[in-house]
Amino acid sequence: MSMFKDMLRSGESLFRDTIFLGYDFQPKILYGRENEQQRFAVAIRPLLQGHNGRNLFVYGAPGIGKTTACKHVLRELEEESDEVLSIYVNCWKENTTYKVFSKICQDLGYKFIQHKKTSELFGLIKDKLNKGSVVFIFDEIDKLEDTDFLYTILEDIYRKSIFLITNYRDSYSEMDERIRSRLNPEFLFFRPYNQAEISGILKQRRDYAFVPGVWEEESFNELVEKCVETKDVRIGLYLMKEAGSAAEDKSSRKIGLAQVAQAVKNVDDFHIKPKEALEEDLLFVLEIVKNNTGKKVGDLYNAFTEQGGEMSYKSFHRRITKLSEGKYISTKKVSGTAGNTTIVSYSSVKKLTDF
Ligand SMILES: Nc1ncnc2c1ncn2[C@@H]1O[C@H](COP(=O)(O)OP(=O)(O)O)[C@@H](O)[C@H]1O
Ligand SMILES: [Mg+2]
Repeated sequence: MSMFKDMLRSGESLFRDTIFLGYDFQPKILYGRENEQQRFAVAIRPLLQGHNGRNLFVYGAPGIGKTTACKHVLRELEEESDEVLSIYVNCWKENTTYKVFSKICQDLGYKFIQHKKTSELFGLIKDKLNKGSVVFIFDEIDKLEDTDFLYTILEDIYRKSIFLITNYRDSYSEMDERIRSRLNPEFLFFRPYNQAEISGILKQRRDYAFVPGVWEEESFNELVEKCVETKDVRIGLYLMKEAGSAAEDKSSRKIGLAQVAQAVKNVDDFHIKPKEALEEDLLFVLEIVKNNTGKKVGDLYNAFTEQGGEMSYKSFHRRITKLSEGKYISTKKVSGTAGNTTIVSYSSVKKLTDF
């Protein structure tokens, strides 16, 4: 049988280790986030001196290193101090007060907590954490179903810094006034990476993850270009993995332009998120955009109210921004005789294959 003749011999993969292409992999060197890391460190510093820490509201587009930069600082903190604990919670997974508290209890080493009530869980947390200082990181807070735990922590844990991380700046104004006034955070905006930074980040990952020399320079540059268009590093990692697999599938020893093109085609399904993830009011707004694609945002709002939609123009505009940030729709600012306006289109622009 010659069927396997051309295939790479077993053990001869193009990949050294795909673990380096995982989204959760923590690289040793972070590019271009010195200022942001400094802001995290400054917020934590009072805790090291026995005072109360500062709170941060961290926001910026998906896939630009918010989580990674924050975890990086925590790791350094762990190395330097035994006195300040850090607690990381991904609120996409733990999206209620009960779940957040049980996750924190687990992380603090409590066992047999299944049958405890929310208030009992918090009792345990308080006992332990009020002996020292603590940094809380609540990541992806826009996915939370309730935020009571924040209020409780703000009130009853004494020496702490709270970092809230989200892709949406609006998550802040949507938060309870009681929480906002107590939190009183500084705002830390993560700007998107530029081409050189994205290229540097992806090169580092490429060199970890692949056998040296398997990437043709042209193909790699093409991949970087595609990633720069989306500004999302995660897309670049995904493309590298897909292109590598595509090359292996055809027993190629090099990753060429054709494999990058194939990977780009696959990425669309991954990139355009399933609509089930949207809340009802967002779905309604999305439906309006779908039926009126290419129209001005003001006209969309009129269509929205005509069809029974109830929210202020400002809230409606926020939904549009949110859908656009999530890449469900695209927006384009245009200036006309009557001033500036925004044209809204259903999907399209962000499809990588359309670039
Ligand atoms: N400055 C950087 N240096 C190295 N890798 C980075 C950097 N910024 C982001 N990454 C990588 O990009 C991916 C997405 O970053 P992440 O922190 O998860 O983004 P966000 O939290 O902003 O959505 C991760 O795999 C991360 O390792
Ligand atoms: Mg993140």
